[in-house]
This record gives sequence, C-alpha cells and structure tokens, in this order.
Amino acid sequence: MKPKSIRIRNLPTHLLLIAVCLFTSSSASKIGENCGSDNKCDAGLSCQTCPANGNTRPRCSRTQPLSPTSKVKGLAFNRYSWLTTHNSYALAGARSATGSVIVAPMNQEDKVDEQLKNGVRGFMLDMYDFQNDIWLCHSFQSKCFNFTAFQPAINVLKDMRTFLDGNPSEIITIFIEDYVTAPQGLTKVLRDSGLSKYMFPVSRMPKNGEDWPTVDDMVQKNQRLVVFTSKSAKEASEGIAYQWTYVVENQCQFPPWKNVLLVFEFKLFEYFYNFFSFLLLFEVKNCFLMLLFCWV
Ligand SMILES: *[C@@H]1O[C@H](CO)[C@@H](O)[C@H](O)[C@H]1NC(C)=O
Repeated sequence: MKPKSIRIRNLPTHLLLIAVCLFTSSSASKIGENCGSDNKCDAGLSCQTCPANGNTRPRCSRTQPLSPTSKVKGLAFNRYSWLTTHNSYALAGARSATGSVIVAPMNQEDKVDEQLKNGVRGFMLDMYDFQNDIWLCHSFQSKCFNFTAFQPAINVLKDMRTFLDGNPSEIITIFIEDYVTAPQGLTKVLRDSGLSKYMFPVSRMPKNGEDWPTVDDMVQKNQRLVVFTSKSAKEASEGIAYQWTYVVENQCQFPPWKNVLLVFEFKLFEYFYNFFSFLLLFEVKNCFLMLLFCWV
C-alpha cells in the first residue's frame, strides 16, 4: 500500500522536474552560477539541479572526479571505483558517420576523448557488425541501421590507445555489449586500433571473487586495458573475458511508473522513432538519473 501512496504523491514532482530539465538550459554562466530561466552555461558545463540534497535552483555544473589512485595507492584493481559511462559513444547531437540523422537514444554530453580527460575510466560500448566493419550503434534487434549507427568502433578505440600511450599509469576498462558475429571481429578491431598490446590477459583475472592484481602491478606489466564481452563464447574463441564471470552488477530498481514509462517509450520506438528520441532528451540532461535519486 505504501508504494502506491508514494507514487501518487510524487507524480507532480516528476512532471515539475521534467519541466525544469526542459527549460533550464537555454547565455553563458560559469560553474556554480544559477542558470535558471533563459541563462545558459559555458561550454562543457550543464545546467543541473539536485533536489535530493535540497539544491533545487539549477546551477551550471561539471562533474569531474578525482583519480582514485591519487587518494590511495597500491590497492588491488577491484578495490577502487572507476567512473564508467553507459553508451559512452552516444553523443548528444551527433550525426551518424554514414551521413544519416541518428534516431536513437543519446546519453553523453562529451566525446570519449573528452570523457577520458574528465576522469572517465570505464566505457560501455555497443558493438555491431555494420558495413563490413564493427560500429558503435545504439540499436535494436541485434542489428545496426544507418539511423542507429554512430561511428566505426575503431575511432573510439584509437582515442583510448592515444590516452594509454600518453598516460602510462592509467587503466581503462571496456564493457562490450556484443552483437558482433564476424569471426575474430573483436580481436581484429582491437588489434587494428593498437590496443591489443595493452590487454590484461583473461588468465590473470580472478574467477572466484579474489582480489585482482594491484594497479601498480598492472601498470608495471603494461596490462592496462581490461575488456569484457557480453557473449560468453568469445572467451574461448577470442580470449576476451565474459563479463559475468568476473563482475557483478547491483540491482537498480525503478519506481513503478518508470517501468511503465520505459515500456511506453519502447513501444513508441517501434513506431515513432522521432518521438522516442524526443523523450530521451531527458536522459541527455541526466534527468532520469536525477529522478531516480529523488525516488529511492
Ligand atoms: C547508409 O549509409 C551509406 C553511406 O555510409 C549509404 O551508402 C547507404 O545508401 C545508406 N543506406 C540507407 C538504407 O539509407
């Protein structure tokens, strides 16, 4: 009974937050300044509220984490928290490298090379066979289309290689949502991007919940790229770690109306692509995340 009353009581808040998200980001302000009504933030900042801590006036914000290894040294790799982005390649406002308009959810305000500069060390990438290559697509039915294709995966992987080359004590993790069926497809794109030499070998990954090697050890051996795939068979065929053998995920429970909203969006996606991408503007502004905080 209690969840039901919560749902009804807070529904107007939800609508209000969406309104805030839609109308607060329209003349440039610096970090920390209010950006309500028609004020805009400087490049690289976004106009955000955080009602969860009572900060309901929108301010220009930039979230830049401290490097965890700058705080405590010498721990096992798994003892640190690494900032990870979901659909890291799905840049808001991007146009497909095919020339097409993209009609797919867009989650990020920064390109991957900028994310790396901003402290992101984990990347969730959806990879598909497309145009005789491997592309990053935010797609459906295990198939990539021009209008869901962002860019060839190698571009983003090369950005990572440049970063690892230039920052010899940094470690990157990639989680591949893997739709690639081309034999040795992942191996090839990792090799072509110059990343293979950095790969942390599966044989050194602990399978029974033990600690990982220390960050220092990984850096010293130059095994600074951890790659996981969502396809279990690829561990045997390509030596790429199947993620659920090595990682766990905490349960993220949406409030009931959010499930309804997701199903609703999904249905719309099947028939009205444009409307779907409109709905997901909220996600671009991190509002779903914010709402989630408000509700839990
Ligand atoms: C997809 O984009 C390519 C260019 O990369 C173009 O040759 C092709 O015709 C497009 N396909 C469709 C169905 O529009």
